[in-house]
Amino acid sequence: MKSIASAPGKIILFGEHFVVHGTKAILAAINKRVTVTTTFTDNKTIKINSELGTIEIPMTIKDGEPKMNEDKDENGNVIFKGSSHEEVKSEFRPFVFLANRLMTNSDNVWHPGNFHFFDHCLGLEITIDSDIPIGVGLGSSSACCVAATASIFGLFKELSSEEILKISIGAEKTIFPDTSGADCTVCTYGGMIEHPNIEKIDSAFDLNLLIANSMIPHSTKNSVEKVSKFKENNEERFSQLCDLENGLIDEVITAMKNNDATTFGLKMSENQKYLEEIQVSNETINGMISSLKEISLGTKITGAGDGGCVIALVKDENVNKVPALLGKDKECFSAKIDTKGVVWSKIEE
Ligand code: PMV
Repeated sequence: MKSIASAPGKIILFGEHFVVHGTKAILAAINKRVTVTTTFTDNKTIKINSELGTIEIPMTIKDGEPKMNEDKDENGNVIFKGSSHEEVKSEFRPFVFLANRLMTNSDNVWHPGNFHFFDHCLGLEITIDSDIPIGVGLGSSSACCVAATASIFGLFKELSSEEILKISIGAEKTIFPDTSGADCTVCTYGGMIEHPNIEKIDSAFDLNLLIANSMIPHSTKNSVEKVSKFKENNEERFSQLCDLENGLIDEVITAMKNNDATTFGLKMSENQKYLEEIQVSNETINGMISSLKEISLGTKITGAGDGGCVIALVKDENVNKVPALLGKDKECFSAKIDTKGVVWSKIEE
């Protein structure tokens, strides 16, 4: 039997970084997906195949139940040890975390006492296929966590969206403990949402959003830590910026209701100024934004910044001009909003 789930990547339209400190944010799921396929195996291992490589981790048996070699790092975060007792690479941790939670019924998805992993199988093989670029702010890790949750647990039970979201945020925390959870939310539900209310937003105008990749990978954890330092050193200004961000998001919601793409674009550029002030932009990003200025209604970072991607609201007639303006070393593509969110199916073989 195969349990297959896919989840969309995402862009953050407004509110990245500030959302970690409690502000609202607007996010949209995009038409690029991660697919995770899970099958039973006869080996007492969890095998994970992805474009980053393959690992196979043996299970240990504790009190008659299977368990992965789990440990805590110096910050108290759960880490896993492979067969050689080396720490499992961070990219693989969410999958091991999920397999472990499934096997030990930590989320009480199964009725207590009703579930014994070895009654059903000996091991798992998890395969990840993705068309979301990695490490550039398009939600590849959250989409992986969401799709993996639905796929791994789906071998036994179809989870509700609420269950998928709750468990996938736990998985994402094995990579980035301070996540706001906004990314997993939009990857689960799809569409455009206002965080934290999970309110779906309908845009009256066609959002022709262009995503341009600086090709500079970033670390969300490092950027978020940098912003926390900025906050520590500039408490009053940071609090003002959070208020400004919340106000800006209210204006964006009104602009969308009024079919006002011009204001939407202006607010994107205003949000970019806040991101520059908290120092998550850099020369490459600023250069890309100024190259697109003439032909876009608004341009900004999407995601953690310090590299990664920018998004631009571009009128139809100008879309073709973008590659020439950005230069050959940058990738760009049009984003369509995904409305489906996570999708799951099971194939009996
Ligand atoms: O670049 P990404 O996709 O990891 O985006 C992170 C967004 C932040 O607001 C910086 C962090 C978060 O958890 O919301």
